Amino acid sequence: MFEELSNFLAAPELYAPSSAPFWDDEYISKNMLKAHLDSNTDAASRKPGFLDRSANWIAKIAPPAQYTSLLDLGCGPGLYAERFSAAGYSVTGVDFSRRSIGYAKEQTLLHGTNIDYHYQDYLTIDYTEQFDVITLIYLDYAALSDNHRLALLKKVYQALKPNGKFIFDVSTPIMRKGEMCSWKYYENGGFFSEGPYICLESVRQYDEASTKLSQYIVVTEDGVECYCIWDRFFTKEALLSEVQTVGFRCIDATLL
Ligand SMILES: C[S@@+](CC[C@H](N)C(=O)[O-])C[C@H]1O[C@@H](n2cnc3c(N)ncnc32)[C@H](O)[C@@H]1O
Repeated sequence: MFEELSNFLAAPELYAPSSAPFWDDEYISKNMLKAHLDSNTDAASRKPGFLDRSANWIAKIAPPAQYTSLLDLGCGPGLYAERFSAAGYSVTGVDFSRRSIGYAKEQTLLHGTNIDYHYQDYLTIDYTEQFDVITLIYLDYAALSDNHRLALLKKVYQALKPNGKFIFDVSTPIMRKGEMCSWKYYENGGFFSEGPYICLESVRQYDEASTKLSQYIVVTEDGVECYCIWDRFFTKEALLSEVQTVGFRCIDATLL
C-alpha cells in the first residue's frame, strides 16, 4: 500500500492517464450524472442559465436554418443536445459514459425529441463531410494530450462539411490559479467510492506546458486509485496555430 501510494504522490508525467476508468465507471458515473443534473453546481455541466446562453449564442453564430446538422462530442446526458434540438438542429450526440447516454436516450423518449445518441469514444469517430457544426463543450479539448488533440482535430475536420464550424471552449491563462494540496476522509463513502475512503486532492501546475493537473488519489480498503484531470491553458495565438495545422481557417476566438 505504501509503495502504491508513494508512486502516485510523485508528479506524474504530463498527460498521464487515470489509473482507473473515471467517466464510465459504474459507481462514479452515477454520481457524475447527479452532478450533471444538479442545477446548483458547475461541477460536471454548467448551470442551466449558462447552458441556455451558450446554446443561444451558438444558434446565432451558426444558425440552424443554414447549419442544419450538429454533432455534439462529449454530450453527457444531453443537456446541450436537447437545447440544440429545440433550436432546430438535427442533432447527433456522442459520449463514452454509458450511464449519461442511457439517460439522454430516455429523455428523447420522454420529450419526443429526435436526437441520435451514440455510446462511443469520440477519438474513434469516423465521419466524412457529414456535419455542419461540431461542438465539444466544457473544456474537454484542453483535457486531451497533444497527440489526442491533433488526432481529434483531424477527425473533426474530416467530419465537417466544407465551410462547417467546430465550436469548443478552453481555459485561457488568466483563469490559471496556484497549486494546492489537501485531504479528506469520507467515512460513509462519497463521490469516488461507496465505502469509506480517503481522498488526497491536489492541483499541480506544469508551467512549461501551460497545463494544470487536478489529481484525486483515492485510498479505499481495496487499494489506491489515482484520477487525473488535465487542463491546458491556451492563448488565442497558441490555439489558432494548433487548429490551423489540420486545415481550419476563418477562425474566430471569442473571450467569454
Ligand atoms: C465535463 S463533461 C461535459 C458534458 C457536456 N458537454 C456538458 O457541457 O454538459 C465531459 C463529458 O465528456 C465525456 N467524455 C470525456 N472523454 C470522452 C471521450 N474520449 N469520448 C467520449 N466522451 C468523452 C464524458 O463522459 C462527459 O460526459
